Amino acid sequence: RSKARITAIGTYTPSKKLTNFDLEKIVDTSDEWIVQRTGIRERRIADENEFTSDICVAAVKDMVQHHGVKLDDVDYLIVATTTPDTPLPSVASQLQAKLNLPSSLGAIDISAACAGFVQGLHLANALITSGLHRKVLVIGADTLSKVTDYTDRTTCILFGDGAGAVLVEYDDANPSFLYSSTSTEGKAAIHLYYSGIANKLLDKDIITNGKIVQNGREIFKMAVNTLVNEIPKLIEKAGMSLSDVNWFVPHSANIRIIEAACDRLHFPMERVLFSGEFYGNTSSATIPLALKMGMEQNKIKKGDILLLSGFGGGFVHSSTLIRW
Ligand code: ACO
Repeated sequence: RSKARITAIGTYTPSKKLTNFDLEKIVDTSDEWIVQRTGIRERRIADENEFTSDICVAAVKDMVQHHGVKLDDVDYLIVATTTPDTPLPSVASQLQAKLNLPSSLGAIDISAACAGFVQGLHLANALITSGLHRKVLVIGADTLSKVTDYTDRTTCILFGDGAGAVLVEYDDANPSFLYSSTSTEGKAAIHLYYSGIANKLLDKDIITNGKIVQNGREIFKMAVNTLVNEIPKLIEKAGMSLSDVNWFVPHSANIRIIEAACDRLHFPMERVLFSGEFYGNTSSATIPLALKMGMEQNKIKKGDILLLSGFGGGFVHSSTLIRW
């Protein structure tokens, strides 16, 4: 049984907008095609001098401003990102300095693509429930624009930049976490990557320009099948029914992935929160962005049951059922 509660949330997106109409001027595409195939209308793009650590700081400041929480006793920091400022050192270690967090805390980056935020929550819950830590800051943040090829119309229409931060604290009486699950299909890694220091991935030669390469159709199928296979198992293990879920908050990759999964799961789209329309696919930030939107629109109420599902390049997946 969990002993951890989500007590605060904050988000940030850069001010610069990149609309579908802007993209029409860059690649051979149209607003109509993008909206119909993805549900995305616009996304936010970080400045030349704005990096993942900067948008993390802004999301944490938003959290502090809205919830008045104190960070001087945070004892662990998890940053989920696939676009760290530098591979070494971690974004988390930079944030300890930038946010003036206690030097006694543990600070790590985790790399789990668009499942990163939910994986971070999963770990935070485990660290607190085990008794090892009491106050964990979890941030999902990505600046995918830095690794997007703006000559490739099949990928550049999808991605945007954003960050979300939550505080997870010890609370034995009112824990948030009901049940979590994770899964990985490593052999699908070749379908979505950007290169680092290697020229091979699972023994296959890869494109080494440091920009996202994607087999969209394969990722689409993997995403739908993973949600359809994993969610019923999670719900059953939690001793619940899908109809108990007030809000489904899947990774906002593409509205059609979510529609296809909801259709097969018989879950109504009216109870889905999607941040992709105005922010695109912000990888590990789509779920906190959708949560914040759901709160601001008075959709999410205290006590609601939420199902968060992250999935992405790897192919990795992580879902968690929480009571808000
Ligand atoms: N504008 C206009 N036409 C386009 C565009 C575009 N931006 N992109 C592709 N097309 C064309 C293709 O060239 C193709 O033309 P053809 O029939 O003449 O060959 C046609 O549209 C259909 O292409 P498909 O690839 O079949 O299009 P699809 O409906 O699959 O949509 C898309 C493509 C949007 C990329 C979709 O496959 C998708 O969203 N996949 C999942 C991607 C995703 O979610 N990735 C992130 C995962 S999470 C993470 O880890 C980051």
